[in-house]
Amino acid sequence: YSYVPETVAETGITIWTFGEQLSRMTGFEIDAWCSSDPARPKLHFSPIRNWMNDPNGLCIIGDTWHLFYQFHPAGTDWGPMHWGHASSKDLFHWTHLPVFLHPEQNLWRLGATGGAFSGNAFFDRDGSLKLYYTERLPAYDLFEGYREVQKIAVPGRGLVKAETITEILEKRPPGVQHDFRDPKVWWDDAADAFRMVLGASIDGCPAVLLYGSPDGISWNYIGPLYHAPAHFQECGARAVECPDFFPLEGRWALVMGFVGYTEPGTGRHNLLYALVGDFENDCFRPISDQLQLLDFGSDFYAMQSFRAGERQLAMAWVFNWETRKPGNSVYSGELALPREIGLDERNRLTMLPVSEFDAAYGSTVIPGRSSGAFALSGTPFEIRINGQLEGARVKATSGGSPAFDVSVEAGILSIILPQDNGSIHYRNDIATDSNLRIIHDAGIVEVFAEDGAVCGTRRNYQNIQPDEVTVISSGVVEVYERKSG
Ligand code: FRU
Repeated sequence: YSYVPETVAETGITIWTFGEQLSRMTGFEIDAWCSSDPARPKLHFSPIRNWMNDPNGLCIIGDTWHLFYQFHPAGTDWGPMHWGHASSKDLFHWTHLPVFLHPEQNLWRLGATGGAFSGNAFFDRDGSLKLYYTERLPAYDLFEGYREVQKIAVPGRGLVKAETITEILEKRPPGVQHDFRDPKVWWDDAADAFRMVLGASIDGCPAVLLYGSPDGISWNYIGPLYHAPAHFQECGARAVECPDFFPLEGRWALVMGFVGYTEPGTGRHNLLYALVGDFENDCFRPISDQLQLLDFGSDFYAMQSFRAGERQLAMAWVFNWETRKPGNSVYSGELALPREIGLDERNRLTMLPVSEFDAAYGSTVIPGRSSGAFALSGTPFEIRINGQLEGARVKATSGGSPAFDVSVEAGILSIILPQDNGSIHYRNDIATDSNLRIIHDAGIVEVFAEDGAVCGTRRNYQNIQPDEVTVISSGVVEVYERKSG
């Protein structure tokens, strides 16, 4: 690679060394360098440079949030996966830290081409942090192409680097092909033992696997926690990725992505689905078989949630593999705004930006009438409409050219971007007497309706700095600028 391993000075200042391109930058210089790129979102996390995908190992230690993420330090495309690392005091302003975990770390195998894949943070009962993750080992198994095994990384002092790596699970259950990844581990009081879910497929059908362990190290297969309906396999789904399973307000929620799935009729893919139900005696019983589409925008994937005090928080990757940042962007991939997960009276998961958002990015009301045109200064902005949503339309433009268009017609909420060329695939039913929030940041459009029960995230790369937004609505309209306080 052109990438050179990094150091952290004893002073606590991060020194980030990136071959010729960026050398020995302090945190301040990194921030200045990142914000000098007008195309880089301001409210949303992005890597300093090069490729990122899934958020990993999310946790809070003391007053510090830690975010790890799938990172390819040698290029702006997906490649051998490392774990990037950043920390924050407020979930919005991040300090970029050295690469935490390397592929086949501590084995020093030359030219490792597999990767340290996604995984979760787990605090053991003695308070120690263990990061459970998947290692993809390439080409050892000639018939399968690659092999995925589960490992634990235990961080060294100051969480700078994964130090101890332990392989915990290699053997796949019968019928499970090479996709066998993305562990989420918890301590289960009822079972008085550890539990883990993994994404996989069984005889070709996407499934979530449940494992148990007395010590967190040796694991036994309990059985499938969930089998996807045949529809998913018929529409291209190969396996479940990034399964997330967590207790929420007396119930349990299962969130998962289906790799390879394309929705018939719309062509949408990269979609995440949720089920809410009860979990007893190692058996998950959804209240309804109807999967909830977690975000209809299709640029919101690989969500990972975690417990922080009384709240279940989540982050996800904003990307869809098809539309790419134009030309010579130094990085690829961003994260959606951190969201808090709730459960509504219809047992739907709800997601709204965490309360820290208001503290980090204060809202200044842009004066205007309840409906009409609002001039924008180029900073991120938010529009809220409360009450009657039917007939609402929010159209942002840049020099008169469309940037995005969000509307509600006959109870259907849609998000239209310039790249759609007339197709309106990004739509969802909503209750028209409710509420709508639209947040825009340099081309990332996040929409929340019905108190977060309906979410749509889309990434746009054209006209990303709108100078005007026109709001037509018979509801109560507020337009805010979102600036760092
Ligand atoms: C989801 C995913 C995970 C995997 C990781 C690899 O986007 O495919 O299943 O662990 O990305 O980068």
